[in-house]
Amino acid sequence: MEKFVIIGGNRLSGTIRVSGGKNSVLTILPACLLSGGVCTLHDVPKLSDVYVMKNVLESLGAKVDFTGNTMVVDATSVSNVELPDRLTRMMRASNLVMGPLLARFQYVKMAYPGGCSIGSRPMDQHLRGMKTLGAEIKEKHGFIEAKATRLVGSEICLDFPSVGATENILLAATLAEGVTVIRNAAREPEVVDLQNFLNQMGAKIKGAGTDVIRIEGVKKLNSVEYTIIPDRIEAGTFMVMGAITGGEILINNVIPEHIEAVISKLREAGVEINETDEGILVRGGKKRQGVDVKTMPFPGFPTDMQAQMMALMAVSEGTSIVTETIFENRFKHVDELRRMGADIKVEGRVAIIKGVKSLSGAYVETSDLRAGAALVTAGLVADGATVLDKVHLIDRGYENFEQKLRGLGAQILRVNGNGGKDKH
Ligand code: UD1
Repeated sequence: MEKFVIIGGNRLSGTIRVSGGKNSVLTILPACLLSGGVCTLHDVPKLSDVYVMKNVLESLGAKVDFTGNTMVVDATSVSNVELPDRLTRMMRASNLVMGPLLARFQYVKMAYPGGCSIGSRPMDQHLRGMKTLGAEIKEKHGFIEAKATRLVGSEICLDFPSVGATENILLAATLAEGVTVIRNAAREPEVVDLQNFLNQMGAKIKGAGTDVIRIEGVKKLNSVEYTIIPDRIEAGTFMVMGAITGGEILINNVIPEHIEAVISKLREAGVEINETDEGILVRGGKKRQGVDVKTMPFPGFPTDMQAQMMALMAVSEGTSIVTETIFENRFKHVDELRRMGADIKVEGRVAIIKGVKSLSGAYVETSDLRAGAALVTAGLVADGATVLDKVHLIDRGYENFEQKLRGLGAQILRVNGNGGKDKH
């Protein structure tokens, strides 16, 4: 298994360009299934999750070419409507092909996505949405089977603004008869990107970015060429890394409005952040204050930035309280940060962090993608060497991570492998 070896102590400085958004591309790729034509996507990040989604589409019969950061998806010959069990288990987001397959073929069968290291992640909101549109759902032997003679637009009010459920329902409703209204919809920028992509294909969708989305079903969608929005979580991660090392970095290809909650918390902690024409300029300065953070659906503080922010709080002055409201078990990085000398107590969904003067390099293991990013963040300022195991989890969501970090002056090396490049 590949590991990172990080030698802490270097201030980061320089410029990085953020890659295309992981969560955007993971919903736009399934949307390509709706067109029955050819879609060309630019700025597609080379991430292991993106390769899994590519495999999912290919297993359904699509032809996919991925050259550089451009992906061409030809969904003309899609005919299979049963997802391979192995792929569904590898990545929860593979469930986003449910809406498109149901809309185009009136049938889909897939294994129930397994549990997850950040807590159980049910699909009840997705399934309730599909039922409301007229699908009959059977859940048996660990499989979900959905079929419909036709999908008919309807009103759906989500219990919680789930990102995946909003996207799956929106995808299904695009080709349904009549009008669908999703209330209490997720407002994340990736939902807006999905709407923009679908509308460019000929869909009639309004309201993404607010909590009410209105979809007027259309009969057919066309081929399009589209550029994926930048990854706001990658941008936020580099902002925190610039801050913790007291560095000065310019982050290119970022939409500040997408990451405003993180910018605002970093400013509160004493980090200087300027939004310029060229991007976001982060100056870490000499010391940071602890701040309280509570994760919330967009535009609140993103759960996908909670772990990285906690690493920063671990070496900031005073006490910080981090509350995780989105996922039930997303503090697995805490024990590993403690190994590095952090003073953190957890009570249920609340972590209390007392800032320490320094962290010390240690052998640590990541349990998920963002926990991994947090441990790299801590390793950048720890005394001596940090060895981080299971970096394949980081490859799920950060393109050329260590290369980008080295470009900013960090000492980070991937060992026991070939840089994660040739394994797909
Ligand atoms: C997406 C993102 C993920 C991010 C999360 C929250 C992708 C590929 N992943 O995940 O990076 O952390 O949004 O911003 O876009 N829930 C239910 N029933 C459902 C659906 C969700 O109870 O049917 C619960 C989940 O268990 C979780 C919460 O709602 O506690 C949020 O989940 P959701 O917004 O659906 O996240 P994902 O779409 O899975």
